[in-house]
Amino acid sequence: MPSRKADPFRWDILVRLTHWSLAAACVANLWLNETGEEWHEWLGYLAMSVIGLRLLWGLTLAKGYARLAALIPSGEDFRLQAREMSERAPAAPGHHGSGKLAVWALWLLVLATAGSGWFQNTETGFELGADDWHVWCTWALQAMIALHLCAIVYTSWRQRSNLVTRMLPRRRRRVPERQQEPHS
Ligand code: HEM
Ligand code: HEM
Repeated sequence: MPSRKADPFRWDILVRLTHWSLAAACVANLWLNETGEEWHEWLGYLAMSVIGLRLLWGLTLAKGYARLAALIPSGEDFRLQAREMSERAPAAPGHHGSGKLAVWALWLLVLATAGSGWFQNTETGFELGADDWHVWCTWALQAMIALHLCAIVYTSWRQRSNLVTRMLPRRRRRVPERQQEPHS
């Protein structure tokens, strides 16, 4: 059975930082803070800026699987995903085809939620009833986050590769004590 420790792939530092700050802002605004509080608004703007930074990174300095071009799904991505899932093969580096679609959906939903939150505070938005749009967006976002988490748990189990470790810093390997002793 392939070992989880054998999965060497890690997302780069900017992807990890933007992922966890985006997740923290969404969790805080959806379930922790009181709406109408000033920091609800600031966290919404922070979420938008974090996505902006991630998009810029993906267009410029990011390498390999983190580039935006690599996040456009192809037929081959879905064929590989189906094969890996049916054979229970360890997950290949990067996202599956459906994962790529989910990334765009999550970004779009966060932007729509924060955008409608801002818009409802303007005169036009108020007249158009944008507060309802904000509420609809928050429901769609919660559904997408639930799907995201279920997909990660299911894929990690099915492919016996813990995908969450790819979003965490690489653990430093401990050198066995005997190797640390100076040679005499
Ligand atoms: C609650 C709000 C969350 C949002 C909005 C969110 C959003 C995202 C986005 C946009 C990506 C793509 C990252 C990129 O390429 O820049 C992603 C990937 C990922 N997220 Fe989340 N996430 C959330 C919560 C979580 C949580 C709680 C976990 C861990 C249990 C998690 C685990 C992962 C993993 C493992 C990946 C990479 C999947 C892969 O290797 O294909 N996410 N998430
Ligand atoms: C990640 C972004 C955001 C998320 C996840 C989020 C989430 C939420 C949620 C769950 C509610 C409660 C909805 C309900 O009553 O059922 C809410 C209300 C509200 N949000 Fe946001 N929000 C975000 C961004 C923003 C931004 C950027 C602003 C304004 C600049 C904003 C302004 C408001 C206001 C004023 C309410 C209260 C509406 C009311 O009580 O009638 N939100 N938001």
